[in-house]
Amino acid sequence: MKEKACGTFSVDGKVAVVTGGTRGIGLAIATALCEAGAAVTLNYRANREAAEQVKKKLTGRFDHQVVQSDVSTHEGARKLVRATVEKWGRVDILVNNSGVFDFCFIEEMDEEFFDRMYRDNLKSIFFTTREVIPEMKKRNFGRIINASSISSHLADCGLSAYGCSKAGVDMFTLISSAELAPYGITVNAYSPGIVETDMTRPMIRERGKEQVKQIPLGRFGTPEDVAALVCFLCSDQAGYITGEIIGVDGGMFKVQNPYRAWQR
Ligand SMILES: NC(=O)c1ccc[n+]([C@@H]2O[C@H](COP(=O)([O-])OP(=O)(O)OC[C@H]3O[C@@H](n4cnc5c(N)ncnc54)[C@H](OP(=O)(O)O)[C@@H]3O)[C@@H](O)[C@H]2O)c1
Repeated sequence: MKEKACGTFSVDGKVAVVTGGTRGIGLAIATALCEAGAAVTLNYRANREAAEQVKKKLTGRFDHQVVQSDVSTHEGARKLVRATVEKWGRVDILVNNSGVFDFCFIEEMDEEFFDRMYRDNLKSIFFTTREVIPEMKKRNFGRIINASSISSHLADCGLSAYGCSKAGVDMFTLISSAELAPYGITVNAYSPGIVETDMTRPMIRERGKEQVKQIPLGRFGTPEDVAALVCFLCSDQAGYITGEIIGVDGGMFKVQNPYRAWQR
């Protein structure tokens, strides 16, 4: 058993799909799963340059493939799962990581903006989950991990569409965990606070100094902070954990004014 980001936890020999796996949090998750011995399909939608860089980085080191598909469509989700089953004959782990983020006040928001958040953040999870269920049921084993957000339960102005889509992810996680439990499939979610990626870099540049004051641990998260949790949730050892939405937020959700402790 290889031991790296997963410590003593085992995903050796498992086959994983990571949506949005060529950048940010998804890339850290895919890399950690590879390092821990899984074969991994890394998915992306449009950024070919990032995908090519990842291919170069992983080729010759890990058993992987990079697959372009838009998982906010039924066809895209099917293409992704089929490509994985064709290559390795199965899917054991699905990490529904892909997502989009944007601010817009309700008064200025058009229908397309709202629909885009729902399609990319929530409907995509429905499509990919539905595709992997028959594969996981065959082996009476599965790990599905969804990307939630601190914004699913902490109201933030301008994030009504994003926050509601992620609240939907939480409920989808709970209901699918119960529906799939009889087949040995667990379903959990990670709920990041602010992790430094392409998604958050503009916001951090603009008001990072203020935002970091709201994080008890005094720093923004790294993609690797999230990957460590996801690797554990994917492992054999996490088999009795399901229906959980777990914060990776430096304590941000739980407290107010943590900066006072830093100013003493
Ligand atoms: N970063 C944070 O602070 C934070 C906080 C809370 C929650 N989250 C959640 O964590 C997840 C990852 O965030 P991140 O910061 O790593 O984002 P990111 O750096 O913007 O990367 C997003 C990835 O998702 C892919 N993607 C988006 N829509 C897709 C679709 N329909 N089909 C296929 N791929 C798609 C992108 O593909 P391309 O490369 O082709 O564009 C990209 O690889 C998201 O669900 C996000 O909402 C992040």
